[in-house]
Amino acid sequence: MRLHFCLFTCVSFLLLASCFGRFVVEKNSLKVASPDSLKGLHECAIGNFGVPQYGGTLVGSVFYPKSNQKACTNFQDVDLSFQTKPGGIPIFLLADRGDCYFTLKAWNAQNGGAAAILVADDRVEPLITMDTPEEEDARADYLQNITIPSALISKDLGDKIKKELSKGEMVSINLDWREALPHPDERVEYELWTNSNDECGPKCDSQLSFIRNFKGAAQILEQGGYTQFTPHYITWYCPEAFILSKQCKSQCINHGRYCAPDPEQDFNRGYDGKDVVEQNLRQACFFKVANESGKPWQWWDYVTDFSIRCPMKENKYTKECADKVIQSLGVDIKKIDECVGDTEADVDNPILKAEQESQIGKGSRGDVTILPTLVVNNRQYRGKLDKGAVLKAICSGFEETTEPAICLTKDMETNECLYNNGGCWQDKAANITACRDTFRGRVCECPIVQGVKFSGDGYTHCEASGALRCEINNGGCWKGTKDGRTYSACIDDHTKGCKCPPGFRGDGVNSCEDIDECKENLACQCPECKCKNTWGSYECSCSSNALYIHEHDTCISKDASTEYSWSFVWVVFLGLAVAGAAGYALYKYRIRRYMDSEIRAIMAQYMPLDNQGEVPNHMTQGHV
Ligand SMILES: *[C@@H]1O[C@H](CO)[C@@H](O)[C@H](O)[C@H]1NC(C)=O
Ligand SMILES: *[C@@H]1O[C@H](CO)[C@@H](O)[C@H](O)[C@H]1NC(C)=O
Ligand SMILES: *[C@@H]1O[C@H](CO)[C@@H](O)[C@H](O)[C@H]1NC(C)=O
Repeated sequence: MRLHFCLFTCVSFLLLASCFGRFVVEKNSLKVASPDSLKGLHECAIGNFGVPQYGGTLVGSVFYPKSNQKACTNFQDVDLSFQTKPGGIPIFLLADRGDCYFTLKAWNAQNGGAAAILVADDRVEPLITMDTPEEEDARADYLQNITIPSALISKDLGDKIKKELSKGEMVSINLDWREALPHPDERVEYELWTNSNDECGPKCDSQLSFIRNFKGAAQILEQGGYTQFTPHYITWYCPEAFILSKQCKSQCINHGRYCAPDPEQDFNRGYDGKDVVEQNLRQACFFKVANESGKPWQWWDYVTDFSIRCPMKENKYTKECADKVIQSLGVDIKKIDECVGDTEADVDNPILKAEQESQIGKGSRGDVTILPTLVVNNRQYRGKLDKGAVLKAICSGFEETTEPAICLTKDMETNECLYNNGGCWQDKAANITACRDTFRGRVCECPIVQGVKFSGDGYTHCEASGALRCEINNGGCWKGTKDGRTYSACIDDHTKGCKCPPGFRGDGVNSCEDIDECKENLACQCPECKCKNTWGSYECSCSSNALYIHEHDTCISKDASTEYSWSFVWVVFLGLAVAGAAGYALYKYRIRRYMDSEIRAIMAQYMPLDNQGEVPNHMTQGHV
């Protein structure tokens, strides 16, 4: 229940040193935002069920129930007070360790409405990984339905949080999985430690259903060059002293070198361990051959098809059946047979030898001792083996902005924008928000709406910019219509902000008030004028034989203005005639002067000017 024990310890004498190998507890950080006394980073261990938000964060407030503190019974009947209302801050249920399975606590928390469960350890010890129970009777069907993330925290941190809560403090926590997986580059390497055995109960069933569900995504990622996937198979060797025993002979191939436990744990019935090893080897060889032909993704088809066409239940778990599957996939059977080799011979098999070596932990990865195990970027994946959860983990293994399109689809979203708009800017009236859901969690980025770019910090402020900005929600500016006339405070000329149009005053955003030009003595002030304010402007009338000139805000007598204009036309006409004549005379005079000086200059090249009378004829012909 607590720790991963070697799946096969109980299976008997095939016990191996690696069962007590290195187990790595995958941690992520838990940041307390308030109160101040707890502020800072703390460690927690990711549980091996539920859906950790790989690549993302989750913010919430801690709730510690007054009763049912171990969360072993249903919260729906006992205590409803932590049900979150829509728009409320997500609740992290704090539960004490003990009395029941971790998974049951998580299931009760989830049904009570919690967004995550924090389990406080009940003893002082290094953090462990909370796992699903191994016992058959505990395999309730809710296991696969747990979707909230879980984390184990130390006894010390648990006690401190409880103390703050008892004082009435609100404890705000940020669970951060962004660094839970390394994400160094634009390709993710991942491996699945699996098994061809289809008769090992719920673990095998969930492993097979994962492979079937994940196949499509895996193949898209592999074909696009986004991932490098490698399947792996665990085998054990038979201790020297037992090699010739009946048990080792039925469970091992290659003279006790590679063994697997009996599928039914009954040596006299059904298939034996060695049948499983042999099919595992055939799957590994299939991958090798497919990989060499440049189509490693065919492995997913082979494993899926084999499980459907050659199940143990129907006594079809055989080489003949496997060969038919290989044939339909168009892969060379001869190459695979060669790779499998003679399983009765007392020789090493290079493939299985390499598999045994890679079982031992390297770098950030612990020993692989349980099946199935998923390793992403050499880090052991924690959480349920489910398409969405695994895809999220793989996606978070890419360096940001290099992730493939499949990572950015709708069903990968974290739905953080649903709570309080993710803390981002929004214009509720225009239904425009800066909150965008991604698998990495929400981002606050000013949006582009109908081709209009919004700019700003995305949190408190976004503003439409560019030529079409007034098209959307009038650029966030005031706009008013009255008596059939519309005025707007938005100007479509690449400028920012809002400005009330002439005749109005105000901030331009919420309101623009009409200016009463008459009352405020701004126009129409001549003694004979009569002023009338209108919305956005004013009307001015002069005495009966005068005309109001709006631009000059003055009245002009109708007669005077007529005479004035006629005499003005005459003056202009005469002026033009005089100027034209003078210009023409000046032009003529300038031309002649110019010609004269040109001729004189040319002639000066050939003779002194005082001997003009002897200019030769050909000179004037050739050059002028
Ligand atoms: C788990 O989910 C499945 C599919 O959604 C559903 O049929 C089943 O009843 C659920 N089990 C429990 C215990 O809620
Ligand atoms: C699969 O092929 C690639 C490229 O050919 C190679 O780098 C990789 O090591 C191969 N994987 C295995 C497990 O053979
Ligand atoms: C706001 O816009 C989104 C998508 O653009 C739409 O799904 C939603 O129904 C809209 N809400 C309202 C209140 O108009």
